[in-house]
Amino acid sequence: MFPLGLLVLAAQSVSATTAAASNLTAAVGWYASWHEPDVPLSSVLWSKYTHMTYAFACVLLPVYFASLQVTVYRTPTVDPKAISLAESDQELLPQFVAAAHKNVILLQGVKAGLSIGGWGGSQYFSSNLASPTNRTSFVNSVTKLIQKYHLDLVDFDWEYPGMQGIGCNTISDSDTQNLLLMLQELRASPIAANITLTAATAVTPFPTTNTSLIPQIATVLDWIAPMVYDLSWNWTAGSPRIQRALPASPLDDSCYASTPDVTGDGLTGRGSARSAVEAWVAAGIPRSKIALGVPGYGHSFNVNSTSAFLATNATLLTPYPPYDTLNHSVGDKWDSTGGTDMCGKFWGPGGTWNFWALVNAGYLLANGTAAPNVPYQWDACSSTSYLYAANHGVLVSYEDPRSFAAKGAFVRANGLAGFSMWEVGGDPKGVLLEAILSAPTNSSLAVTASASAPTPTSVHGNNGANAQRVNTWTLPLCLLLGGTYWTLN
Ligand SMILES: *[C@@H]1O[C@H](CO)[C@@H](O)[C@H](O)[C@H]1NC(C)=O
Ligand SMILES: *[C@@H]1O[C@H](CO)[C@@H](O)[C@H](O)[C@H]1NC(C)=O
Ligand SMILES: *[C@@H]1O[C@H](CO)[C@@H](O)[C@H](O)[C@H]1NC(C)=O
Ligand SMILES: *[C@@H]1O[C@H](CO)[C@@H](O)[C@H](O)[C@H]1NC(C)=O
Ligand SMILES: *[C@@H]1O[C@H](CO)[C@@H](O)[C@H](O)[C@H]1NC(C)=O
Ligand SMILES: *[C@@H]1O[C@H](CO)[C@@H](O)[C@H](O)[C@H]1NC(C)=O
Ligand SMILES: *[C@@H]1O[C@H](CO)[C@@H](O)[C@H](O)[C@H]1NC(C)=O
Ligand SMILES: *[C@@H]1O[C@H](CO)[C@@H](O)[C@H](O)[C@H]1NC(C)=O
Ligand SMILES: *[C@@H]1O[C@H](CO)[C@@H](O)[C@H](O)[C@H]1NC(C)=O
Ligand SMILES: *[C@@H]1O[C@H](CO)[C@@H](O)[C@H](O)[C@H]1NC(C)=O
Repeated sequence: MFPLGLLVLAAQSVSATTAAASNLTAAVGWYASWHEPDVPLSSVLWSKYTHMTYAFACVLLPVYFASLQVTVYRTPTVDPKAISLAESDQELLPQFVAAAHKNVILLQGVKAGLSIGGWGGSQYFSSNLASPTNRTSFVNSVTKLIQKYHLDLVDFDWEYPGMQGIGCNTISDSDTQNLLLMLQELRASPIAANITLTAATAVTPFPTTNTSLIPQIATVLDWIAPMVYDLSWNWTAGSPRIQRALPASPLDDSCYASTPDVTGDGLTGRGSARSAVEAWVAAGIPRSKIALGVPGYGHSFNVNSTSAFLATNATLLTPYPPYDTLNHSVGDKWDSTGGTDMCGKFWGPGGTWNFWALVNAGYLLANGTAAPNVPYQWDACSSTSYLYAANHGVLVSYEDPRSFAAKGAFVRANGLAGFSMWEVGGDPKGVLLEAILSAPTNSSLAVTASASAPTPTSVHGNNGANAQRVNTWTLPLCLLLGGTYWTLN
């Protein structure tokens, strides 16, 4: 006789799509360790993921304070040997891996991974990979992590090879080449030979004029995850001050990319799922090695009610209204008023609203439908939603089950590996996940990009157009200038 628990699980699975039932190769979630108090491992919907990636391991610089007899690690470091985990992560990561492995689907546990880098953790990626000695040290550090934590997957979240990210990263024209050399060396190690290797990327290909590099990178990586989010925000804020509130995670941006430039800011689209797949496929990444990066959160913009609604019909939201880039409001509880990053630059609030927070605030019903009386609009161009959060005086560009279903249909129509969601905690009940896992294909979403002739991209990437941020201030481990940690080495 089956224990009652199994029967209950079986009953639930009738209405809920598991990752296994979705047939996707990659139904991936990034688990943001610093949100563990709100997102305990026991609350994670493991069955909806094939792979789960822990964020982040940082590259740290040890500084010994003799008077205090304490070693403080500043991050990131120029010492390529020291990919390290904060003390709290050394406790939590083994629990995370164990929990993933315990959740067995089709005879296998959920694959457990670790992400290295991130927006605040990529400062010395370039120099760490820039010489044979440095690459070997880096590779050794990665293989030690694999062994020590029993990892099935390692994700490289270098933001960005050959392009500036946070503002003070080391950067070189050889970054893409050096990334390939490091990955080849890592693959050659017996420890990493059968590990899943992935990379979180910009929506545009790694910059290089050598068209053979990206097809070769495709042979050593299992998949890339182009981060199709944070695209409404020009991070070079303030100049011009007034810009337009564009969709944060558009499936397509071709219609507004050519809308009249009403604010004179020269804005066009900054990329979309479609443009990302077209560009990466043309550069030489097979479709089957792309897991679409999707967000469990949206962006808010301070827009007054006069600007938010059409003058001709006060029940309709203005498409892409102007907003003040120097005046972002604070988003949900996981956002903050801002802070100074390790480059010494002050950033204001991120304005981010996670899916759960839109529900908690009453703007969305639990199933993701806009609550009654909340001004809502589906943007057919980008296949994403907008609502006006009157209590906060903000317009929010966000994801809901409809936009996630469109992304899921796109994933299937283009034969992609699947999706990768930042972050697991954004959608704790799996409302968005269910939509993307169960979406049937939609052949009209197929794109025609072909990899027959890889496209070279200029070595100096267009950072404005590509700079997305995995998140804002909530990177205590990689953004903090100091803290007490243990090193691995
Ligand atoms: C997964 O594949 C099976 C067998 O081909 C098929 O019956 C099922 O509908 C597929 N599931 C999805 C969500 O596409
Ligand atoms: C290699 O790493 C060291 C730090 O350990 C750094 O000083 C050096 O600049 C790096 N090499 C290159 C070519 O960037
Ligand atoms: C990978 O290799 C290790 C060590 O040889 C082995 O224990 C593990 O089962 C392999 N994993 C897969 C998925 O083949
Ligand atoms: C392009 O990259 C390939 C692979 O690393 C290398 O063999 C080749 O020499 C490079 N070509 C040029 C012109 O640098
Ligand atoms: C609303 O915002 C627009 C654009 O920023 C501005 O021109 C207008 O003066 C504002 N209206 C009110 C009533 O604050
Ligand atoms: C305003 O738009 C709504 C929704 O499209 C429509 O039902 C209504 O008739 C419009 N009102 C006016 C005055 O045009
Ligand atoms: C920022 O926006 C808020 C809400 O729209 C507004 O009340 C405030 O006056 C603005 N501040 C500045 C400096 O423009
Ligand atoms: C969401 O829930 C509301 C309230 O229960 C219901 O009226 C609505 O039909 C649901 N929407 C969808 C798409 O299921
Ligand atoms: C398929 O995608 C097209 C293009 O976005 C859209 O117009 C159509 O409604 C979609 N079909 C379904 C069944 O969702
Ligand atoms: C972002 O703003 C900067 C400064 O105004 C501008 O130079 C750049 O072109 C903008 N980037 C995009 C993608 O709109």
